Amino acid sequence: MEADRPQSLTGDSPDLLSKFDELIAMRQGLLDTGIEDPYNLVMEQVLSPTRAICNGRETILLGTYNYMGMTFDPDVIAAGKQALADFGTGTTGSRVLNGTYQGHRECEEALREFYAMDHAMVFSTGYQANLGIISTLAGKGDYIVLDLDSHASIWDGCALGNAEVVPFKHNDVEALEKRLKRIPAGAGKLVILEGVYSMLGDVAPLKEMVRVAKENGAMVLVDEAHSMGFIGEHGRGVSEDQGVIDDVDFIVGTFSKSVGTVGGFCVSNHPKFEIMRLVCRPYVFTASLPPSVVATAATSIRKLMHGSNKRAHLWENSRTLHAGLRGLGFELGTPEAQSAIIAVIMPDLQQGAMMWEALLKEGLYVNLARPPATPANMTLLRCSLCAEHSAEEVATILQIFERAGKAVGIIPA
Ligand SMILES: Cc1ncc(COP(=O)(O)O)c(C=O)c1O
Repeated sequence: MEADRPQSLTGDSPDLLSKFDELIAMRQGLLDTGIEDPYNLVMEQVLSPTRAICNGRETILLGTYNYMGMTFDPDVIAAGKQALADFGTGTTGSRVLNGTYQGHRECEEALREFYAMDHAMVFSTGYQANLGIISTLAGKGDYIVLDLDSHASIWDGCALGNAEVVPFKHNDVEALEKRLKRIPAGAGKLVILEGVYSMLGDVAPLKEMVRVAKENGAMVLVDEAHSMGFIGEHGRGVSEDQGVIDDVDFIVGTFSKSVGTVGGFCVSNHPKFEIMRLVCRPYVFTASLPPSVVATAATSIRKLMHGSNKRAHLWENSRTLHAGLRGLGFELGTPEAQSAIIAVIMPDLQQGAMMWEALLKEGLYVNLARPPATPANMTLLRCSLCAEHSAEEVATILQIFERAGKAVGIIPA
């Protein structure tokens, strides 16, 4: 349609945005039904790790990644304020030039202690950590074998490098083994796994997968973004919980979930790991994290080392919500609570959006996830629990789900 073309285009020149026409139409179709835009919500005020004001109404937050509820921890806030006053608002430079402050070093020291590993490298986000580590490790002639349901940052890390990329069926140990056995002898191999897969909240069979990877001469990278702080005796993640952390070559994680701020990292015991600081482009060619952010991260990580009571309460919340939702008749992504994420499967996007809106109107925020982010074209209401949710809040959440589910027709009235 001429009217939809930008004025700057002449003749036959293609509009580079026309490839999104289908998505634009789908989004408009949804909004035309009168449903509130699920991707345009504003948190007008944040009251605590579990409460915010949305659309003028106090809302329970069940769709953040604030698993350990560290965002309002008084020690963490005090550390951030102090660093802001002492070191200013930003570093204005790369880690390898003027952008490494004492705080970045202390943050890496906290990570080394948390994971009991020799090396830690802090990136500006978890996305950049995957982008950088993966593209730098696996180059031309190497092979990356990865789970089909891997996070976008893992796929983008593969796309940035020049390695052969070999996906295998989600969480399928046999499929992983078959792919590994087909790789030509002598080629470099990197197997990439996640501890918890964030869409369905399911856990990987890391014990078997890491064994198979090692038997076939591959190095292993595990993204523990959704398990840090919560899963495993010391909160080191699924690889700790399943007893294989010593065989994992690289753990990637983020500060944007349990740590409660922003940033990413990779820890490793590899003796040559430090060279990555000079050759990893998403580490070198970007500004480092602000001093206040690394100060909050370091303080939070140190507190998470002593978080066993919080971990136990979070497990209790997760199990109660899972059992309660299943009891109400909702279809869930896992047969039992495997992490702090409980995914409620919706029949389609339209009903998913209606349910999302009904929950919000009742004062409950969850994440609406849809393809291409979700596996098997599913529409999901992703609930993520926080160690700061009280037992009463979890009970209220279940009541809201029951009322909204009956009103929208997802469960029988
Ligand atoms: C598995 C996984 N890895 C990496 C990331 C990126 O983390 P960040 O928010 O720090 O960029 C995410 C974020 O959602 C994630 O789910």
